[in-house]
Amino acid sequence: MPVSEKAQSSRPEPAAATRATVMQLFATAVARTQCPFADQVNGPLAGLLAERAGHGAKEFGYKRETAGEFTQWGGLDGIRLSRWVCAVARKYTESLTGMSLAEAFGRSLEREAEQGLAEARTVAVGVTRSWASLYRSGDRHEPHFHPNTALSAVYYVAAPGTCEIDLLDPRQNVDYYDPGISLAGESHRVRLACAPGELLVFPGWLKHAVPPFQDETPRMSIAWNLNYTLG
Ligand SMILES: [Fe+2]
Repeated sequence: MPVSEKAQSSRPEPAAATRATVMQLFATAVARTQCPFADQVNGPLAGLLAERAGHGAKEFGYKRETAGEFTQWGGLDGIRLSRWVCAVARKYTESLTGMSLAEAFGRSLEREAEQGLAEARTVAVGVTRSWASLYRSGDRHEPHFHPNTALSAVYYVAAPGTCEIDLLDPRQNVDYYDPGISLAGESHRVRLACAPGELLVFPGWLKHAVPPFQDETPRMSIAWNLNYTLG
């Protein structure tokens, strides 16, 4: 006879016998925040992005990306925004690790037998690469992640409505078998609808995608690949 909870015993197990500690493991931290000076920088940056996207930009067919480092061509507004993004990313890391960036990085270096190096030098969140993306009607960006990047950051500059981004379940093999009940959104995409002025920060390994965009007014965003740097 097949064994099941029902057939195994005529009497149900007492509650104490089935009590267990349940751990929610492998959560993915995604930070979302509003830029406090968005009203001051979004207008000028939108004009600059439109200009940069008009010549010398990378045309991928599914979207257009600016060439060169945003931190180099973005002017004072670009530098101000990039510094704020790095500060938010530092806070994100420190709140998740529960320690200062220097201490967290020092512990990583200790594992590589370079004890004391982090204490002797300044640890910061730095920009490895930054660029702007323009989506026009019909554009999209299929699921991808940013290699060799500790943290990905994306900031929304201008759009006719909300800026949608899909975050994909990073747990490998969750779509291998469907038992009939989902315990924690297995294999789902989480779609966020952000407004211009909002910033997202998440691990560089997290796959994300931009669903098909449909509007005559372009959607503009800026992306940063961030890493921990020793000064
Ligand atoms: Fe991306």
